Amino acid sequence: MKICVTGGAGFIGSAFVHRLLEPSSTLAAAGEKSEEDTSVVVLDDLTYAGNLENLERFKGHKRFEFVKGSINDPEAVSGALDGCDVVVNFAAESHVDRSLTDAGSFVKTNVDGTRVLLDEAVSRKLRFMQVSTDEVYGSLGEEGLFTEDSPLDPSSPYAASKAAADLLVGAYTKSYGLDAVITRCGNNYGPRQFPEKLIPLFITGALEDRELPLYGDGLNVRDWIHVDDHCEAILAVVREGKQGRVYNVSASSERSNLELCRQLLELVGKPWDLVRYVSDRPGHDRRYALAAGRLRSELGWQPKVALDDGLAQTVEWYRSNRGWWQRIKSGDYLEYYEKLYGERLRGAEGKDPGVG
Ligand SMILES: NC(=O)c1ccc[n+]([C@@H]2O[C@H](COP(=O)([O-])OP(=O)(O)OC[C@H]3O[C@@H](n4cnc5c(N)ncnc54)[C@H](O)[C@@H]3O)[C@@H](O)[C@H]2O)c1
Repeated sequence: MKICVTGGAGFIGSAFVHRLLEPSSTLAAAGEKSEEDTSVVVLDDLTYAGNLENLERFKGHKRFEFVKGSINDPEAVSGALDGCDVVVNFAAESHVDRSLTDAGSFVKTNVDGTRVLLDEAVSRKLRFMQVSTDEVYGSLGEEGLFTEDSPLDPSSPYAASKAAADLLVGAYTKSYGLDAVITRCGNNYGPRQFPEKLIPLFITGALEDRELPLYGDGLNVRDWIHVDDHCEAILAVVREGKQGRVYNVSASSERSNLELCRQLLELVGKPWDLVRYVSDRPGHDRRYALAAGRLRSELGWQPKVALDDGLAQTVEWYRSNRGWWQRIKSGDYLEYYEKLYGERLRGAEGKDPGVG
């Protein structure tokens, strides 16, 4: 099988490539092996969030190929999909805060980019896997869970663009018989997450004794999952998910931002007074929580990483890989590309590192 992984230089996409070519020590300990019969082509435009260092160990790997290009570019998409059987679409603008000031690039990539991929998948009769999010369902009160049949009610431009993409995927299945599946997952954490997102922002900020901004009253609740568990779920759905189906992905690990931040500070060994409450994000959803019974009963998926263990491992990863996130925070990761890959990546210049 040849899989095209779009957005494979980002956080979850690169974890998925690791899963296919060289499973993490956590997964290896749980008996997961690399997929020897699977080759991978990554299509990634290397926006500010794409980081080739995430894929460095696969340079020269016989089952790995990297193509720099945008999912909005039909020619790049067509080239990358040559010989593929499956496309797994991770490529997206993914940061909610950025979508509040620049909705246009979210609609462009997340909606129209997905449309370009869908057109190509239809004409080549490929299997199409869309990586979506629990944010498409909107906000929950203190009780209840979202099921796959809950109405879509997104609150942010990011979530609305992902919901629109999901609807397009469904429409292509009905109109053209596309063999498509969708996963909707809660908040991921783990190694190699861009340090604008809550968990790496807090860990790396605490390691540097910086102020740590906490939105509103800190009582917003998120449903956390280790990125390796998410990738296992995606692989199960790619292999056995039923055409046209949506699968929620959840490890049922809800935690308020306040509890989470307290735990991270304890793990890093820094005091609570680094935390600074800041005014709430507009449209900030109060709670997400998913029912993932379909994935568990139909495909036999189970999460393997308990949240407390996963958070401790994640803190250790950021502690031991300071160079990785310091190069991002300083913007030096762009030069690092040049050293690694030379002239070929000139297009990656002028990126906004996005964090201060
Ligand atoms: N992070 C989460 O908690 C989470 C949860 C559920 C679903 N998701 C979804 O998973 C996917 C991956 O999320 P992530 O956190 O790894 O994001 P990320 O921001 O770390 O990575 C996104 C990747 O997409 C690439 N990209 C952006 N625009 C592109 C384009 N036009 N063409 C090709 N590549 C492009 C970027 O260069 C980057 O490598 C997204 O679709 C996101 O909506 C994320």
